[in-house]
Formats: sequence, structure tokens, C-alpha cells
Amino acid sequence: MCGIVGYAGSEQAVPILMGGLAKLEYRGYDSAGVALQQDCGLTVIKSKGRLAELRRQLETAGDTRGTVGLGHTRWATHGEPSDLNAHPHLSQDARFAVVHNGIIENYIELKQMLLEKGYTFQSQTDTEVIVNLLAYYDTGDLLDTVLKVRNKLGGSYALGVLSAAAPGQIVAVRKDSPLIVGLCKSGALMASDIPALIAHTRDYYELSEREAAVLTKDGARFYNVNREPVSKTPYHVDWDIDAASLGGYEHFMMKEIMEQPRVLRDTISSKIHDGEVVFPDVSLTRAQVEAIDRLYIVACGSAAHAGMVGKHVIRRVAGLSAEVELASEFRYQEPLLTDRSLVVIISQSGETADSLAALRYAREKGAKTLAVVNVLGSSIARSAEHVIYTNAGPEIAVATTKAYSCQLAVMYLLAVYLGRALGRLSDEDNASLLKELQALPDKADALLGCKETMQYYAAQYYGAKDIFLIGRNLDYAAALEASLKLKEISYIHSEAYAAGELKHGPIALLERGTLVVALAATVSMADKLRSNILEVKARGAEVLALAQEGDEKIKTVADALFEVPRTPDIFTPSMTIIPMQFFAYYVAAMRGMDIDKPRNLAKSVTVE
Ligand code: G6P
Repeated sequence: MCGIVGYAGSEQAVPILMGGLAKLEYRGYDSAGVALQQDCGLTVIKSKGRLAELRRQLETAGDTRGTVGLGHTRWATHGEPSDLNAHPHLSQDARFAVVHNGIIENYIELKQMLLEKGYTFQSQTDTEVIVNLLAYYDTGDLLDTVLKVRNKLGGSYALGVLSAAAPGQIVAVRKDSPLIVGLCKSGALMASDIPALIAHTRDYYELSEREAAVLTKDGARFYNVNREPVSKTPYHVDWDIDAASLGGYEHFMMKEIMEQPRVLRDTISSKIHDGEVVFPDVSLTRAQVEAIDRLYIVACGSAAHAGMVGKHVIRRVAGLSAEVELASEFRYQEPLLTDRSLVVIISQSGETADSLAALRYAREKGAKTLAVVNVLGSSIARSAEHVIYTNAGPEIAVATTKAYSCQLAVMYLLAVYLGRALGRLSDEDNASLLKELQALPDKADALLGCKETMQYYAAQYYGAKDIFLIGRNLDYAAALEASLKLKEISYIHSEAYAAGELKHGPIALLERGTLVVALAATVSMADKLRSNILEVKARGAEVLALAQEGDEKIKTVADALFEVPRTPDIFTPSMTIIPMQFFAYYVAAMRGMDIDKPRNLAKSVTVE
């Protein structure tokens, strides 16, 4: 969702801003723009569409010199994607320019107040209200003015502000939307996410809630909510620039699928020490684990699918019953939370608005909170009491692959950790599970060799109108994720069903030749699933089954079979998802889709 970049320094801003925006494209956007501080005042150039369109406009815009500026990619919330609604927005008197990520919930009241004062508006955005509030409340001091306006705003925001009367300065402020600041030799930068800064610095500062920063060519100053100066410690990322670039692949999605063995190894090996699972940032005592009355796993999208796997695995390994809730629903279900409840929030970005809101709700109710997060220092990581990091590295493609795989790995590790803490996992079982877990990266490596086979299946079905997936238990959880991958990037209608539910309606949708992918990797479900395969075949469906190597019986019922390496049932989602990621990728490629940036989707969903 909306991406922000800002630069205040001694070099030309446009190339730095455009380079940063290109690194934020993955967040999803439908228009883009830049604002520059120039001798003649503030200049804004913006347009609907991709960055290439903005680049064209910049080339023909004449003078685009300036060493202080803001850039923005907009994912429409208030008002359609258009040149006028694109950011940056200028105040009516052109003295202020603003870029914004988030949603101002009280913008209608604020707009009404400004309309009564005679302000007029060009766009349908909530952001134009902010920029005119700056003009209205202008105190002559940019930081003061921004803080004054900040106090009027409800909702979420990461803001970058330029003033014609404050040359050389950008003021940044945030609440519930991500914003980081980095320093480089020629000045200071701000951005929504690390990839936009990585070409300039690997050290960055996280702005805390309602904190502000003033960026100039001499560096950055930070202020707390009361405008008192604060000193901050930077986070360091050890990614190299390549980590956020294509490295020879045509798409980030393919690169990230191929990285899975390595990141799985990093995630698993960093959390096993002397034969036990160890989470350095989790300080639950054994007594606290024993006292857990309810365990909720809360997340959105693929992270929720990882949570579904977690639920089954935690129950089987630790004998603990867990519930999975979508973060956007969690608060409204009136969950039964006490100070003995544990709420596990899973999030790649650590910024998903609904997941963050669910986490805060859980904390307010006194529950213990544990975040499973990929991005170091993200809002969810900082707001939870306990944190487990997935070590997937930067994930750029909107459709998650490697981060999901690492979330699965953490679910397995968490199940073992809880099983041990509860005394329900013997030394022998612990050792055998960890051995199998440590074998997963090599098995994932072997699965990368299935690329061409899945490309072959994709070539047969890329024209399909519908693709159904079926599975039971853990296979069903994996089927939900595989189906989401197909929907997200190929735009083929796809649904995943618990195989036993088919007869209760969905089977009516099957026509001769419809593809049904049967995930049949959990041995304990194999017999039942075979019956379901026969049912769909009897209605004319073509069945591609994914099963463990050596499952002879499945061969007799499926039209086509893809075999995954043998592993205990609980780890099978990690095996079946890789071929299905390839399948979705190739189907989308054959349909000519924008694989890394699917329409309407955003990587980091920072609005509820
Ligand atoms: C978006 C992404 C999904 C992701 C979901 C949750 O929809 O496109 O890939 O699963 O958000 O994001 P999170 O960062 O919280 O894991």
C-alpha cells in the first residue's frame, strides 16, 4: 500500500526519489508523484499509472532540479486512481506539500471545517485535507505546525511534509503506518520500508507512534509526542542490495520461491540449540505456558493459512487446542481473553493494520502476545511482548512464498517448544521431530527440481475458468494457500474445499474437464481422500494429485500424480506448497499477468 520516500540533502533529489519509489513498487499502487523544493517554490509532478508514466512526465517537465523532495506511490482508498488524487498534494496556497500513507478517519469533519473557512479542494482524498490544515494552522515553524495538525488527525498516517517557507527541511510524523528514517553521506532519507533506503544505508531508525522527525542535509532530529528531542538507536539490516533486486530472475516471485531452501535453513537452524527449540525473544516461563487457558492464532491472508497449519500441529504435538481467527474479525468476535490467554499474531510485514489492531486489542484485554514477524523492528514486532522472527529476508513479490514457508517452519518450532514446556513431548520424540524439521530445507531444495513438471501442468490448464483444490486437515490448510496463490496472480477463479464438504454443494460446480487438484500428502487422510477423488472424477473432473513418494494407491485414482518427498504428516504443507507456487507462477506467466504486482493487491495492507 502507499509508499513514501523523502530526501533532504545536497544531491539532486529526483533520481534518489525515483530509485526509492521503484523499490516500493511491490507494495502495490495505481498512481505516483514527486514534490520538489525549488527556488520558485514547491513543484509537484504526478500521474495515474506506473512509475514509467511519472518518469515520462518528469522528462518533459522542464526544470526538476532540487535537493529536497518527497515521492509517493498511491494505492487508492479515498477517490479513484487519477492524476488529481495522486500524491503529493499541495495546499491551496501552494505553501505546503504532503505525502500520506494511511486513512484519516475524521477527514469529513475536518474538511467541513475548512470548507466553512473558504478552502476549496481539487481531489477526493483525505490527504488534501491534511495539507490545507497545515496552511490553516501555520505557525511559521514547520515542526510546530505539523504537530499541531497531527493532534487534529484521527486514524492512521505516515506523513512527509515540505514547506516553501522551510527550505532544506522535511518533517515526518507517523501513527499506525510505517515510516523509517536513514542517514547517508549527503543527507537524510525517509521511507515506508527498508528496500527504498538500502542503496544509501543499512542503518535505519523506526519512528515510534506519534513521533516526529526533521530531516535536513545535516541529518535527522527526532521528537517525542510532547516535542521533546529524543535520541534513537538505529536498527541494522545485513541484507545486501541484491536481496532487494531481481538477481537475474524475471520476477521476484520466482526468485523468492527458489530462495526457500536457504531461508528455511536460516529460520530453523537459528532456533535450535543443543537439541532444543530456543526463541531468544520469547520469555514465557514454564508456569505461564502451563497456565495458558486459550491459544488464539490471529493473522490475515497467507499468514492466516500458516496459522491454520499451526493450529493442527500445535494440537498434535503439544496437545494444546488453538483457534485461528482472521485479524479483521478477531476483535468483533468478542474473544474470551484473560491474562492466561496467549495470542499469536503472524505477519510477514509486521504492519498489517488489522493484525496490529488485533494485537493491541489482545494486550488491552491483558492477554499475553507473541508475534511471528519477518520485518525486524516493525510495528507488530515492537508492540508484542514476545517475538519470533522468520528469517525470510526481504520479500518483494506481492504474493508471499518464502515468508509463508518460514511462517510454517515457525509454527512447527512453536509446537515443539510448547510441547516441551508442557512436558508432553518426550526426549525421543523431540529429537526425532527436530531431525525431521532440519531435513525440510534439503527436501525443499529437491522440490525446486519440479519446476518444469509444474510448468507442464500449467501449460495444460492455464486457460481454465475455475480450478478447485481439495484436501483434508493439514492438506486442506495447504490447499487454501495454494488456491490463494492462483487467485492472486493468475486471476483464475479458484476455491479450496475441505474434501468432505464437496458433497454439500461445491460438487455442483464441476463440469467435464474441470481441474481438481487433490492435496493428498497426509498419510492419515489418504484413504478418505481417495474416495473424494473418485467422487469428483465420477462428475468428469480431471484430478492432479500431490502425494508423498511411494503412495501406490493414489496412482490408481488420480489422472496425474506429483510426488513430494516423504515427511511426517505434520510437515507436509511445506512440501505441497512449493509445487503449487510454481504452478500458480507458470499459469500466471502463460496468461501474461503482472506476476509481482497483481492488480488491486498490496503487499503491506496498512488500512483496516
Ligand atoms: C497482503 C499480502 C499477503 C499477506 C497478507 C498479510 O494481502 O498480499 O501476501 O499474506 O497481506 O500480510 P502480513 O504482512 O501481515 O503477513
